[in-house]
Amino acid sequence: MLYVSTVPYEARHVLYSLLGTRMPRQGGYAVDASDSGFEGRVVLITGAATGIGRAAALAFAQRGAHVAVLDINEDAGSLTAQKIQQAGGKAEFFKCDVSRSEDVQKSIREVVRRFGRLDIAFNNAGIEGATSATAERIESEWDKVLNTNLKGVWLCMKYELEQMLKGGGGVIVNNSSIAGLVGFEQASAYVASKHGIIGLTKTAALEYAKFNIRVNAVCPGVIHTPMVDRFTQGSETAIKQLEAGTPIGRLGQPEEIAAAALWLSSPQASFVTGHALVADGGWIAH
Ligand code: NAI
Repeated sequence: MLYVSTVPYEARHVLYSLLGTRMPRQGGYAVDASDSGFEGRVVLITGAATGIGRAAALAFAQRGAHVAVLDINEDAGSLTAQKIQQAGGKAEFFKCDVSRSEDVQKSIREVVRRFGRLDIAFNNAGIEGATSATAERIESEWDKVLNTNLKGVWLCMKYELEQMLKGGGGVIVNNSSIAGLVGFEQASAYVASKHGIIGLTKTAALEYAKFNIRVNAVCPGVIHTPMVDRFTQGSETAIKQLEAGTPIGRLGQPEEIAAAALWLSSPQASFVTGHALVADGGWIAH
């Protein structure tokens, strides 16, 4: 199958007019149910060393995508890439601190040099930060959470968009949270950063729709990852409380958020942009 998005954007207008059809504007490719849409696609995932990011890296790779694994954690990030390679897939690890402009710019440039282009980005890296009431929060701690979770997503988008514009289109999925939709006591920095991601997502969706780039967010509920293990400190009681607070009666698995990110990135979501998709076992329906 010819991937139309590999043809330069201007040339595609000509191609579609020769075919007598209108060029699909969102996401770069026509909907084809027999095709996952990921074979040979270049997918960049931040925070792909563990948790949701690793699950997404494995899921994209299983569908034939070439995966750039970005993370601050070198050992675990390299392991994600190795797992993909051992299963016969294509992946490489790139050490990157998403809160640092030079790191992001250099990593994305390197991804494009190694893989040839950039089709899809899942901006997933994030930290939970310490718990404290708003007035008691330490300024440096606020900065760390906002710099990683919000500035990090913006920096990634800045350089990803630059590449996607050159390539004639693409798809971006940002990882927000149910904390991007409602408040949580003792988590002002995290909540502010996750609300910010949704605003950023909507704004970029408006700005880049005409350039064949879709931008969406995913809002996970409580997902059993190392982040939740740190938060609950291995306490069975704390896990049970979180389960009891989730209408579906259990915590989510990283693969369930990977599935949401995959769908938003897929040709099946070609008319979806500026959306914040909730995957939370019913939590937000309370
Ligand atoms: P995790 O802690 O397993 O994964 C986060 C990854 O991000 C780690 O591999 C970590 O090394 C990386 N990372 C942290 N700071 C970084 C930086 N400055 N630069 C590059 N990489 C960095 O946690 P999890 O749960 O997989 O979290 C992934 C995303 O999902 C986060 O943005 C988190 O806020 C979001 N999320 C998680 C929920 C949960 O219940 N686990 C719920 C809602 C959202």
